[in-house]
Amino acid sequence: MVRDKMGEVFLSAAGLTREFGYGERKTLAVNNVDFEFHRGEIVSIVGESGSGKTTVAKMVLGLLKPTRGEIFFEGKIRDISTHAKRRLYWRSIQAIFQDPFSAYNIFHKVDSVLEDCIRLEGGGNLDAGEKFEKMKDACKFVNLKFEELSSKYPFELSGGQMQRLMIARIFMLRPRLLIADEPTSMIDACSRATILDMLLKLRDEINMTIVFITHDIGLAYYISDTVYIMEKGVIVERGTADEAILHPKSDYTKRLLGDVPKIYEPWDFSLAGGAEKENSA
Ligand SMILES: Nc1ncnc2c1ncn2[C@@H]1O[C@H](COP(=O)(O)OP(=O)(O)OP(=O)(O)O)[C@@H](O)[C@H]1O
Ligand SMILES: [Mg+2]
Repeated sequence: MVRDKMGEVFLSAAGLTREFGYGERKTLAVNNVDFEFHRGEIVSIVGESGSGKTTVAKMVLGLLKPTRGEIFFEGKIRDISTHAKRRLYWRSIQAIFQDPFSAYNIFHKVDSVLEDCIRLEGGGNLDAGEKFEKMKDACKFVNLKFEELSSKYPFELSGGQMQRLMIARIFMLRPRLLIADEPTSMIDACSRATILDMLLKLRDEINMTIVFITHDIGLAYYISDTVYIMEKGVIVERGTADEAILHPKSDYTKRLLGDVPKIYEPWDFSLAGGAEKENSA
């Protein structure tokens, strides 16, 4: 799925390192990694549990300080040293996480979740009709019916509906970079395929850069332009989805592929949900 035209580098890292703990108990969670994310690019970071994927995501999000190394944002060293600078940076970046339940205030109904996005986007002064249209549009983008959901609480939605609501929020907020950390691991295969297709649609419509974090090399192949494979804090493989997954160089990638036989045989991706079921059967 490599796109012919990739935009300029949007965010990159050089020598990015994060340690936790001290002395005997020190963990090198991320060890001297380099990467570049281009505009409109879908990048997957694949690796086993504990390989450092979420730690990379948190450093990119500015939620965790690198121990060493640098992150570059739009060509300059990223500076989020003050509250105001951090807020500005966060206007360009959003994240969705594995557990959609954790992302919502359980006491807020769906319409206020979406209305908050309008406010954050600077549309607080719009009249009720205009707000309604915006919320309806966002729900339509993810195949949800606003009228049916607006007066529900998040806990009254299914996991798949909740993830779609997350994507509706992203559609409204229009960040330039979206980090999706295992967003599909808690939903069934069919909803998973839908979510992946919505991420692709977001990229196509908004030219968003998407960093997709997963254990699942098959999902990574399906969705990505570029794939990074991490093992114990180190990037052991990087390339286009075809290079990294169909022609891997590192033994680790070959082993990961060995764990999921058939994954790199030709897939009929029009049946992503079905193929997914077959592979997990
Ligand atoms: N706050 C923390 N304090 C101490 N160690 C941490 C902390 N966060 C992560 N680690 C350690 O850093 C390593 C990488 O963790 P990380 O959460 O980045 O892995 P991951 O690839 O996201 O795993 P998973 O697929 O299970 O989500 C692990 O060994 C983890 O125990
Ligand atoms: Mg993680």
